[in-house]
Amino acid sequence: MRVVILGSGRGSNAEAILQAQKEGRLGHAEVVQIFSDKPEAPILELGTRFGVPAAYIDPAPFKTKLEREGEGRYIDAIRACEPDVVVLAGFMRVLKPGFLDAFAGKIINLHPSLLPSFPGLDGIGQAWRQGVKVTGCTVHYVTPEVDEGPIVDQSVVRVEADDTLESLEMKVHAAEHELLPLVLARLSETAS
Ligand code: GAR
Repeated sequence: MRVVILGSGRGSNAEAILQAQKEGRLGHAEVVQIFSDKPEAPILELGTRFGVPAAYIDPAPFKTKLEREGEGRYIDAIRACEPDVVVLAGFMRVLKPGFLDAFAGKIINLHPSLLPSFPGLDGIGQAWRQGVKVTGCTVHYVTPEVDEGPIVDQSVVRVEADDTLESLEMKVHAAEHELLPLVLARLSETAS
């Protein structure tokens, strides 16, 4: 199962996937390419570390969505990778129907809350400020409605009395790093 990862930042989830692959915990899934919309994003450095091609693709002309020329560049580059799954691991752009149709049923997103609660930006901060006692992370298929597609799996994180926003962030990220490789391994078993 050929996997392309898109990310905009730190890349800790991409790293968790690549580490799982290195340790033989990714089933039949194989990361074939990483793309980023930020030329300086640390996620691109993972390419050298793990021996996977990694490249910046210019997302212009928009700042928060992928449309028009930028969308076309992404579609062409990803199509050339012949992916079975496109993973959004911290790709902070809204995808439009042109992109979604090009990879219909193949795009999954990771979100740091138990959707449908706390969609959008800063899912962990939103949950923290709401005072919930349970939060977590979600992997879901991507549809035109942001953070609303069918849920593939979720992982639960309890908010303890001595948690701070920072400790909660660490716990949710740790849960993400477990969940996403597991989901990919499972999808690769059903795909093969
Ligand atoms: C992750 O926490 C992911 O859930 C979040 O961005 C972070 C990326 O971290 N995505 C969203 O909020 C999407 N709405 P990473 O670059 O270290 O993998």
